[in-house]
Amino acid sequence: MIFDTHAHYDSDAFDEDRETLLASMQEHGIGHIVNACASVEDISKTIALMEQYPFLYGAVGVHPDDADKITPDVLEKLRSLCRHEKTVAVGEIGLDYYWHKEKSEHLLQQEMFRAQMDIAREERLPFMVHSREACADTLDIVKEYMAGGMYGGIIHCFSYEKETAREYLKRGLYLGIGGVVTFQNARKLKEVVAYAPVEQLLLETDCPYLAPKPFRGKRNSSLYLPYVAEMIAQLKGISVEEVVDITEKNAKTVFGIRE
Ligand code: NI
Repeated sequence: MIFDTHAHYDSDAFDEDRETLLASMQEHGIGHIVNACASVEDISKTIALMEQYPFLYGAVGVHPDDADKITPDVLEKLRSLCRHEKTVAVGEIGLDYYWHKEKSEHLLQQEMFRAQMDIAREERLPFMVHSREACADTLDIVKEYMAGGMYGGIIHCFSYEKETAREYLKRGLYLGIGGVVTFQNARKLKEVVAYAPVEQLLLETDCPYLAPKPFRGKRNSSLYLPYVAEMIAQLKGISVEEVVDITEKNAKTVFGIRE
């Protein structure tokens, strides 16, 4: 069954049909979903979803967009939520220099990225990284933490060159691949997918964002992941079933889900 390793079902884009949509996942071949926290104020929504749906797990963390909202209290709350039985990762955390151009913002994001990497290490959870236009700084911080010992990690929505992928892959990290790989202009990402071992790839939606072709621009959901698996299968020269099975196994391994 398909494992969606990064979704945002707490988004208000799903307010009208969240229950029916999530209830239809299993019959459409979606076995598991990890809902990733993004903003400080919505952390409780992810917790509510993981408590309501047996097949849905959570990543707890605060996105770099919200770095200025992370107080010591927020960090303590994240730490305690890491001990929830359905929390499987710390995320999404990282750096976003696309939306934030000021040096002072970059420094604050780095500080909060590190603070949450510390929590991942201390709570023995994998980390889930968001990185946009911050290639070198993200790699530096991840390298430093991996050298000190971590419990695995994922570079979600991987968007950099093959040379950067190599650095993450050789450290045993996973690359999250979503709808972007189906886009006409995704030459760079297609190269990365062709190059990376399928044993280090994960399927993800980042829904409601980044719907694959032919739904580009529409609301995304886990139900569209077969289009992503199909493109990965073509690029790797293997069957769609193999892509689904291997990426599911990868996800269960990195998140420590045994069933
Ligand atoms: Ni996301």
